[in-house]
Amino acid sequence: MDKFEAGYPPSAAMARSVLRGLASCCALAVGGTALALDEQALIQTVSRRAPAAPEDKLPRSALLTVCFVSKASPGRHSVDQLTNGCVLNVASFKLAAPQSDVILIAPTEENAADKIKNLSKKDSSIKISYVGTGPWEVGGQSIPFQNDEGKFYGNGLKLLWYTQTLKKFQGQYDYIFIADGADLYFQRNPFELAVEYPGADLVFFGDRGDNPSKGKQFFDRMMPRCESSKRNEPSLMDDVDETFMREVDGRQFSIYANSGLILGKADAMLSLTSQVAEIAAECKFWISDQSFVNLVRYYMIKERGEDKVLMFPDMEKTASLGHYSWYYWTEDGWLATKDGTKERLYVVHQYDRAPQAKLLTELVWNKTADWLRQRE
Ligand SMILES: *[C@@H]1O[C@H](CO)[C@@H](O)[C@H](O)[C@H]1NC(C)=O
Ligand SMILES: *[C@@H]1O[C@H](CO)[C@@H](O)[C@H](O)[C@H]1NC(C)=O
Repeated sequence: MDKFEAGYPPSAAMARSVLRGLASCCALAVGGTALALDEQALIQTVSRRAPAAPEDKLPRSALLTVCFVSKASPGRHSVDQLTNGCVLNVASFKLAAPQSDVILIAPTEENAADKIKNLSKKDSSIKISYVGTGPWEVGGQSIPFQNDEGKFYGNGLKLLWYTQTLKKFQGQYDYIFIADGADLYFQRNPFELAVEYPGADLVFFGDRGDNPSKGKQFFDRMMPRCESSKRNEPSLMDDVDETFMREVDGRQFSIYANSGLILGKADAMLSLTSQVAEIAAECKFWISDQSFVNLVRYYMIKERGEDKVLMFPDMEKTASLGHYSWYYWTEDGWLATKDGTKERLYVVHQYDRAPQAKLLTELVWNKTADWLRQRE
């Protein structure tokens, strides 16, 4: 996630219009009827395919991502950037993982862009989960959509929405990939990693590959803002640091996860997102979720073991390019791993504010152009 900026703060005007028109709880847009159709579609697709294609081994899976727009006050991104970012996220994902579903999360129908709604109407594997505008009950507290000044309450809300949506779809998927909405695209099916590491319950990807120690600095800056001393006492902070330690390029670093991209078994993901939301409530801190994601990752390593909770440092399987450029390419023009095997990276993150933003944006538009044209 993008550190301290509240992702897509809706304006007060938008929030008012949202509150005006709509019931506050959890309507699911494209739900029930779509499911039966999906299953049929899947059976048909499967029977039409060559029997031994490796994708047939892939688990039932979905991308889960928060995508909503605010007309007046979109923060760092314009409405168009948010919408296009989401479209590219979905298109690149469906290109890479055609058999997986996409579940887009938005508060209400008014906050979902027409382009996104149109994609969802044309393709039953692209669903929208409307989570409402709260308030949400967690840890004995009532968490609102906006604060007293009418500002978005904070990025931590996403964890409540993931939790709510994961519960709604419980039993339908084996694996879930959680991804930021507007600043990331796929180059390769991330659920290949589930097949490659079947024992892993959760797979995290590292924060800043150009400077791994920034992950710790951010954690150390955020955790003192938790109002519960149980969650930030020095011995705990030290043990987290120790537990996350590993070698990267021949040096020891404690590697912190970026909360903008996480792969996991559906039940482990639900456990992660609900624990993060509970800790946010206990800490009374909703502005940023990344530190709590890392804290729960630590608890889960302790509980389940390191072989169940994996970490790939940034630049190994994915790249978060907010602070650096990339110089490794596959023959067909995708971003490749650095190790000389020229395999595609799975995900390109923060491309919109990367030093190579223009090139990377053009690249993903080019790669998804045919897919999008067929669905216009
Ligand atoms: C969405 O679909 C409707 C009906 O087909 C169309 O009129 C409209 O232009 C589309 N909007 C966008 C933004 O693609
Ligand atoms: C995108 O496609 C255009 C037209 O085919 C081409 O000129 C351009 O080099 C491509 N850009 C990238 C980054 O692949």
